[in-house]
Amino acid sequence: MQKLAIQGGFRLNGEVRISGAKNAALPIMCASLLAADDLHLDNLPDMHDVKTMVRLLQQMGVRVAEQVQGATFNAAQLDKLEAPYDMVKTMRAAILVLGPLVARFGEARVSLPGGCAIGSRPVDLHIKGLQAMGAEIHIEHGYIHATAKRLHGAHICFDLISVTGTENLMMAAALADGVTVLENAAREPEVVDLANCLIAMGAKIEGAGTDKITIIGVEKLHGAQHRVMPDRIESGTFLVAAAATGGRITLTDARADILDNVLDKLRETGARVEVAGDRITLEMNGRPRAVNVRTAPYPAFPTDMQAQFMALNTIAEGGSIVVETIFENRFMHVQELQRLGAQIEIEGNTAVINGCEHLEGASVMATDLRASASLVIAGMVAQGETMVDRIYHLDRGYEHIEAKLSALGAKIRRVS
Ligand code: EPZ
Repeated sequence: MQKLAIQGGFRLNGEVRISGAKNAALPIMCASLLAADDLHLDNLPDMHDVKTMVRLLQQMGVRVAEQVQGATFNAAQLDKLEAPYDMVKTMRAAILVLGPLVARFGEARVSLPGGCAIGSRPVDLHIKGLQAMGAEIHIEHGYIHATAKRLHGAHICFDLISVTGTENLMMAAALADGVTVLENAAREPEVVDLANCLIAMGAKIEGAGTDKITIIGVEKLHGAQHRVMPDRIESGTFLVAAAATGGRITLTDARADILDNVLDKLRETGARVEVAGDRITLEMNGRPRAVNVRTAPYPAFPTDMQAQFMALNTIAEGGSIVVETIFENRFMHVQELQRLGAQIEIEGNTAVINGCEHLEGASVMATDLRASASLVIAGMVAQGETMVDRIYHLDRGYEHIEAKLSALGAKIRRVS
């Protein structure tokens, strides 16, 4: 079991390159199943979930030629239309092979994802949508077994906003017979990046990025080249870290236009934030001011940034309220932050934080991806050494995070 040993009290200074977005790369890799030609992806991040998705596609028969920060996927010949439990249980995003497999091959067997640390996270909306498009679906022995002669277009209104639900059905609709309208669709930038890749492959999609997406199905899709968008959550994570430790950092290869709400919140803490093209600079002198956050679907404040801002609030000036409206159990980092001396009270989906002058280094345990990032940020501001255990959670969704943070001046090293 690897751990991160962090010495607190060091300001962050310098430049850091933002990697490709995990939550765009994962659905886009699954889009390769929709065509029999090469799909070449650039700017793929080097992180565990991407490696897991490559393995999942390869065990189905997709040929993957990996290059530096990219890969070429070819799904011309598949020998297995299945996503097995041992791979799905470690990565919920594996559900994203369901729509493409049913759309192109008329069949799929995908293990139910099961719950995870941050909540039950059902896939009922994915299933309902495919049934509306004509798929026959049976749940047996923990697997979703879907069959369809050929999917047909449908008018689908989501009961609630689902990012991968929108992505799965958009991919399925791309090859369906007729027109599909997705209402109450997710507007996340990663949905737009997937749509742009599908359009490059020949799909007919309008409205991605709005809550109404219209897809006109085509007979076949062809190969394409696509560069994965920058990771807005990695961007936000580094910016919050610098706002908490103090210092001056510049993100490169980043996109500010998809971070409006997060940048506004950072300015509220007293940080100075400047944008110049694909560079975002944040400067913080002195102690941050506490900020209230309430998570909601894009373009509101992202749930994937909640834990990071909570870490900042624990040492900020004043009190703050953090409300988590997306997942029913995304406060796993609270008890670990309390071990560092943070003053946090939880009432249902609301956390009330009283900012302290200092945190004290301690041993803490990561429970999920963004909770891990929150503990790293807290460790960088706590007095003394903080040891973060179970950092495989962190490695799932951040590319070489301790190397990037060390290059900015953090005292952080990986120990076994
Ligand atoms: C995506 O997860 C992201 N993952 C998550 O990022 C992110 O937190 C989440 O969207 C919300 O923005 C990827 O894109 C790979 P949802 P997803 O379907 O699609 C409920 C990270 O840290 N729901 O938008 O799984 C669900 O339980 C990860 O990078 C249903 O009830 O989330 C949740 O409460 C964590 N039925 C809410 O909707 C369904 O069929 C939003 O979930 C689907 C979802």
